[in-house]
Order: sequence, then C-alpha cells, then structure tokens
Amino acid sequence: MIAWTIQRLLAWITEYLTKNGVDAPRLSAEMLLSHVLGLKRIELYTQFDRVVEKDALDRLHDLVKRAGLHEPVAYLIGRTGFYSLEMEVTADCLIPRPETELLVQRAIEFLRTREGQQHVCDLCTGCGCIAIAIAKGCPNARLVATDLCDKALAVAAQNVAKHGLQERVELLCGDLFDPLVPQLDATQWDLIVCNPPYVSAAEYETLDKNVKDYEPPTALLAGADGLDLYRRIAEQIDRFLKPDGALLLEIGYSQGPAVRDLLERTALFATIAIEKDHQNQDRIVIARRTGDGEDAGPLLSDGSV
Ligand SMILES: C[S@@+](CC[C@H](N)C(=O)[O-])C[C@H]1O[C@@H](n2cnc3c(N)ncnc32)[C@H](O)[C@@H]1O
Repeated sequence: MIAWTIQRLLAWITEYLTKNGVDAPRLSAEMLLSHVLGLKRIELYTQFDRVVEKDALDRLHDLVKRAGLHEPVAYLIGRTGFYSLEMEVTADCLIPRPETELLVQRAIEFLRTREGQQHVCDLCTGCGCIAIAIAKGCPNARLVATDLCDKALAVAAQNVAKHGLQERVELLCGDLFDPLVPQLDATQWDLIVCNPPYVSAAEYETLDKNVKDYEPPTALLAGADGLDLYRRIAEQIDRFLKPDGALLLEIGYSQGPAVRDLLERTALFATIAIEKDHQNQDRIVIARRTGDGEDAGPLLSDGSV
C-alpha cells in the first residue's frame, strides 16, 4: 500500500487541481494540507516525509474534491490573508482581494497626515478587513463599520475580537449610511471608505465559477450598470463627511470616469483622483472635501489630493 507522505500528497493535489483548472494549484494544495494537519505552510517542507494518517486523508479528500469544483480555498479553510493580517471568512462574506489593500494603504497615509482622534467609517465592511487593517495602522482612529448583512457582520465581529480591536471598531448593521444617522449629532467623519458591490448585471454573468457560484451576490451586484451604490453614496455624502475629510472608494476597472462624474456633480470636493492598481487598472477614487472657507476651485485631475 502507498504511504501518503506530505511530499506525495502535495504533488498529487497539485496535479489534481491543475487538471481541474484551479488557480494557483500548488499554493492551494499547500493551504489545504497545512489546514488539515494544523501546520504552517513552511512546516510542510520541514516534514516532507511524514506519513499522513487515514482520518486526515479522509478530511483532505473531501476538501480537495470541493476545491476541484472551484469552491474557494479561503472558504474551505475559513480564513485568508489581508494586509499581512489573518481574516476569518465564511461564504457569507466576500473574500478580501489583494487590490483592496491599496485602498487601506491610502487611507492610512491620509490619516497619518492629520492630528488628533480621527473618525473613520467603513461602509460595506463584509468580514471587516478594511476597518481592521486601518485600525491596526492608525492607533488614533476610531471606526464605525457597517454592512447590510448580519451574517457578514458576525464574521467581522470575530475578526475584530481576534485582532483585539473591540474598543475602537464598532460594527453596525443596516443599509449604507443608515446606521450612522443616530451618531450624526456628535460626529461627522474624517474619512469614509467603501468597497461596495460594483458588478453590473451583464458582467456578473461572465464572472469566474469560483466567484459566481460561491461568493454572495449581495456583495457583488450593484444594478444594471454596477454604479447603484456610488450613486447613493454621492447623494448622501454631504451629511456625513467633515470639511477637509476624504472619501475613498474602490471601483471596477472601467468605472473611474462615471464615479468621478457622480462626485463632481456634488460640488463638494476640492480634488478627485483616480489611482491604478498593480495590474495598471483603475482601482480607487480618492476625493478630498473642500475645507471650511476653502474655495473649491477647479478640480485637479492630475492625481494630486
Ligand atoms: C464588495 S463586498 C466588500 C467587503 C469588504 N469591505 C472587502 O473589501 O472585502 C460588499 C459588501 O457590501 C455589503 N452590502 C451590499 N449592499 C449593501 C448596502 N446597501 N448597505 C450596506 N452594505 C451593503 C455586502 O453585504 C458585502 O459585505
């Protein structure tokens, strides 16, 4: 009988996932195997000749089969990495994407230019990844994070607790800005960030199987043109953002001009910049609100904030 060593298993799973057209098959194999064995990925290589027991093999077999059907590995193992932090995820929330780290980076840079306690709001927080990464990077920030989906917020609550941020990250359930209304008398926000659903109805039909069949449609779909949430944010932002505060939005690669137009029409912003991600695709919009007594002047489209 074949002894299933870690080395042999890694080779077999990688080949199986490759045949089934799964992305990053070797990495996926390592993640599944290290999850089942309770090891770090690096430890797979220091224990290459270890023989894996039958009960672990059975659990692994089930997970590999599901991964072969394109169920995302992050859901299978219940976690993923974001901004060098581990986040728990379930099928109730979107799996955080590496592109979204750019939004976090710009949010932290903006907050570090400012003095005193900063009030930050993360709309559409999902598993809480953006709010948590900002809170970790900015000790002077207090965050409110909202989402329509209570099950996603339950995952966010686990992540907030895991990172010890219960004192600084408040989670509220509700539609977009609605949960913030009771706080408006006391607070306007220095920074509002949002990675909303932004997939159009037509684009949704073309999404990869691992996204379309497994990630929640409510985290992806935003009306016929994918702009529904941006429209609603533009309509309401005036009440919630402080003078001189910033709005940071993640966008789809083709949505820059339309989102810029929506924000320009509010006549609230001194600058609106669109920034590309590492794939050279438009990915975030950074809009800084005009300060008290500041003349909005012509909007700069040269990327400066
Ligand atoms: C694209 S996901 C982003 C999740 C997370 N912020 C991230 O970057 O990975 C969008 C999230 O918005 C939530 N959502 C959708 N419509 C909403 C609405 N009208 N109000 C609040 N949250 C909403 C979904 O439940 C989902 O968690």
